[in-house]
Amino acid sequence: MRVLFICLGNICRSPSAEGVFKSIVESRGSSDKFTVDSAGIIGAHAGERADARMRSHAEKRGYDLQSRSRRFYPEQDFSQFDMVVGMDHQNINDLRKVANSQEELDKIHYMTDFCQTLTVKEVPDPYYGGSRGFEEVLDILEDACEGLYIECTKSM
Ligand code: 4NP
Repeated sequence: MRVLFICLGNICRSPSAEGVFKSIVESRGSSDKFTVDSAGIIGAHAGERADARMRSHAEKRGYDLQSRSRRFYPEQDFSQFDMVVGMDHQNINDLRKVANSQEELDKIHYMTDFCQTLTVKEVPDPYYGGSRGFEEVLDILEDACEGLYIECTKSM
């Protein structure tokens, strides 16, 4: 199962989703069955590590975010991944615009649709806010990644 997480800049939400999901996959001994990556709709931060605030909040929960930002490349990424998981409405709209077939459209999912306990529609962009925003991102991602893992194992 190949899962690609998408946000706008690939320095806050999607690198965290990647880190949380990889941690779940590793803890269940399933690393050999998964490819997990993240990318951004824009390439403005390409090559950069995750935002220092995001890394610091993630580290307190035991996640070591190692990814480097990169842009989403529709042609290669839609074929190389089974699931393309966006964080907010804008991400989903942007992904849908560049999908080239029904098969590609069917790969696009909202992260929050996998939430197990929280009722939220989006993972809000924390970039211009304070530390509560980063904690909220991690709360949602921990909940949603559990649900995503369950969903993935159903079809494996
Ligand atoms: P992310 O957060 O999409 O969660 O990585 C953002 C990072 C950068 C920008 C916006 C959101 N930006 O405008 O540069």
